[in-house]
Amino acid sequence: MPLMLYFTWNEIICTGVKEMKDFLAIADYSPADLQAILDQAVALKKEWQDGGNPPLFKNKVLAMIFQKPSLRTRVSFDMAMRHLGGDALYLSPAEIGLGKRESIADVARVVSGYVDAVMARVFDHQHILELARWADIPVINGLSDYNHPCQAAADALTIQENFGSLKGLQVTFIGDGNNVAVSLMHICAKLGADFTIANPAGYDLDPDAVALAEKFAQASGSSIRQLTDPVAAVKNAQVIYTDTWVSMGQDEETAKRVAAFPPYQVNAKLLAEADKEAIVMHCLPAHRGEEITDEVADGPQSRLFPQAHNRLHAQKAILVKLLA
Ligand code: CP
Ligand code: NVA
Repeated sequence: MPLMLYFTWNEIICTGVKEMKDFLAIADYSPADLQAILDQAVALKKEWQDGGNPPLFKNKVLAMIFQKPSLRTRVSFDMAMRHLGGDALYLSPAEIGLGKRESIADVARVVSGYVDAVMARVFDHQHILELARWADIPVINGLSDYNHPCQAAADALTIQENFGSLKGLQVTFIGDGNNVAVSLMHICAKLGADFTIANPAGYDLDPDAVALAEKFAQASGSSIRQLTDPVAAVKNAQVIYTDTWVSMGQDEETAKRVAAFPPYQVNAKLLAEADKEAIVMHCLPAHRGEEITDEVADGPQSRLFPQAHNRLHAQKAILVKLLA
């Protein structure tokens, strides 16, 4: 079935969805482009639930390069390609040695001749930029030390499913100003949700990412707040979001972080301070008993698993936009 099932030419021209080669950061996309991805994800999800997606990616292959472990990103991208009639190759940290065994520029130019797109999970954000710069094919950021845009797309889809849209909502992130927080902040600012973070001193969001978010928020009529008090941060929030205190690659800081973050645990007491209808989100993997309690993760306000499942649908939409 042709792509026009999802977009008319007019929509393609209006949203500019055909113009971007890569998906590296939420910040690179206009609110209209991001909303088009979410609309596409909704359509693809419904189509999948109604019996299956058409083989838009027949004979197309996605290479998946991982410098770090993964469950959700690996399996959801692989299954997204299969559902759309394509295939995916998993390339483990040991196999590629990105930038070690071979330069990133050389890897990019070699794989461009073999596959149709690359998804990469890297330590250093500069490495995904380098890969995209040298590759002739679309490059998708499957998480870097700076951001996690595919996660944010699935997060926005989940919030939209629960509240109809992001516009006017209060989204609060409790914990480390990390990669997941950066992409969530940017998608909130782009789509008109007020974003608040509460983090311990010394674990702030990247100031340049905040400056960008403030610009996006000004355009959408939303706001960005950085607090240290988790109780103040969750007041009137419709979405409470948390993530690990120790991201991949920060193992040496574990003792220091585990000492600093306990006041930032998302537990029943903190949740009681939020809007009664608030939902709880976490990109997973969760460290139960640290950043989130079992009671909250498995409670009625938790959306952790629908959120994880939405990675599949959001990424199908990203793939369709870049590949179809
Ligand atoms: N949320 C997420 O990206 O999970 P994985 O690390 O398992 O891919
Ligand atoms: N902040 C976490 C997200 C994992 C999906 C990390 O980078 O390890």
